Amino acid sequence: MDFLADELEDLCKKGLYRRLVSMTATRGTRSLIGGKECLILSSNNYLGLTHHPEVMRGARAAINEWGAGSGGSRLTTGNLSLHEDLEREIARFKGTERAITFGSGYAANTGVIQALTGKEDVVLGDFLNHASIIDGCRLSRAHFLVYRHRDMEHLEKLLKESQGYRRRLIVTDGVFSMDGDMAPLPDIAVLAERYNAFVMVDDAHATGVYGKRGAGTADHFGLDGQIMVQMGTLSKALGSAGAYVAGSARLIDYLVNRARSFVFSTAPAPAAVGAALAALRLLQEQPEIRERLWENALFFRKGLKKMGYQVPEEDSPIIPVIVGDNDSTMKMAGSLLEEGVYAPGIRPPTVPPGTGRIRITLMSTHTREDLDWALSAFARAGKKAGVI
Ligand SMILES: Cc1ncc(COP(=O)(O)O)c(C=O)c1O
Repeated sequence: MDFLADELEDLCKKGLYRRLVSMTATRGTRSLIGGKECLILSSNNYLGLTHHPEVMRGARAAINEWGAGSGGSRLTTGNLSLHEDLEREIARFKGTERAITFGSGYAANTGVIQALTGKEDVVLGDFLNHASIIDGCRLSRAHFLVYRHRDMEHLEKLLKESQGYRRRLIVTDGVFSMDGDMAPLPDIAVLAERYNAFVMVDDAHATGVYGKRGAGTADHFGLDGQIMVQMGTLSKALGSAGAYVAGSARLIDYLVNRARSFVFSTAPAPAAVGAALAALRLLQEQPEIRERLWENALFFRKGLKKMGYQVPEEDSPIIPVIVGDNDSTMKMAGSLLEEGVYAPGIRPPTVPPGTGRIRITLMSTHTREDLDWALSAFARAGKKAGVI
């Protein structure tokens, strides 16, 4: 087993070794790290719902009624009417015929792509797609073509060159997880129509955040009914765990039969389902929670720009601060942590080589004082690291 030590040492040399940071307590925007209270500025809990009293109540009520686990896969002994309630609510929210839940976003992406495509097919994906999409393509054994990030001319070229396949699936993150920019979904839908392909969007970071109703990127662009497969997570803005796929009744029926990560995996735990249901209802009843998130995102982006940080123009609750090489990225993250701000460094393979970054995310529950203080920490840490 010497290879373990060798490979770990190699990761250290390349500045790619990862270690777990332990949080001994966490509550909303604050966590205890190494005994020190830190402001969390990189969570996917965009709306702060993980600790919302109603969401926590939803989880407790589900445990009281259904127990701690679901006891089996959905097709055996684990199919609770609670799962079906959540799926009906998701379908209503998304404006689709039906929805289906998975244990995680990773499981949803791998399961769906594997179910929908095979050796005779081709999947066309954005260069910055999430790793779970790439793994789904590998599992499916479909041909896999990558187009340059958001480059529609390149996608069209690949569509022209791939006419001979049985099926063609275009798959993209709706909002790119490490960059915060959006996929040009209307253009993708037009190309899909023109070249007889079908589209899958991963709305992990858009669900609950983007769109008039917070229903994701199709909602944002007014593309209802045009995106055949809409995947999203329950683990980010919805503050729980798990994922969904929303689409036609036939698609969902097919996935129930063919998505291996659905068929061969235990149904989501009642607490996670109960929490997601409560979060989904809350999000629709209280749009002001989302509005606060966008106000915070705008405020923080402006503050960073004023200080001399190069940040993307596109408004998003995800703000990448590109540092560059791995060591400098980790040093910047370390300086921030010393200041009491937890925003971990992101390195390859999560992002392309040379684009190491601090991935900032805002939350609805950050206060103006939190953000003013975080900006002053970024001013000091950025100067120390030579980023500004
Ligand atoms: C774009 C995207 N898709 C899928 C996932 C996987 O979701 P989960 O964490 O629920 O497995 C994530 C994040 O983790 C993501 O950022």
